[in-house]
Amino acid sequence: GGPLTVDLSKMQAGQQIVVTWRGRPIFIVRRTPESLTTLKSPELLARLRDPQSQSHQQPPYAANWSRSAKPEYAVLVGICTHLGCVPSFRPTVTADWPGGYLCQCHGSKYDLAGRVYRGVPAPLNLPVPPYRFDNDATLVIG
Ligand code: FES
Repeated sequence: GGPLTVDLSKMQAGQQIVVTWRGRPIFIVRRTPESLTTLKSPELLARLRDPQSQSHQQPPYAANWSRSAKPEYAVLVGICTHLGCVPSFRPTVTADWPGGYLCQCHGSKYDLAGRVYRGVPAPLNLPVPPYRFDNDATLVIG
């Protein structure tokens, strides 16, 4: 298949949708202002294995604090970098959990930018697929 166009205009803040591109799940999250603030917090960054994604090849538009072309939207390949399970979306913030993903296979955790926590089996952040925005709410993957 060629590029996949996704209309994001109906997405609510905090919502995730999952689309399939080249047989892989792609997570798209419309991040809330609060979750964007959390992504920059020193407390969170200190808990991540590779907060700047230095051990990754990232597309140039994702080589930034939000790992995305538009901070409001996360676009990630939804395949755990440990052994390939599909992590679960866990957006609800608690005292010990700033929102993100839990891989139920072996307990790896990622934040809402797909950055992996320290001390879990997954070695790498979730990859960022090739994509662009054609306008404010039209995403083109591939
Ligand atoms: Fe996700 Fe092992 S496959 S933690």
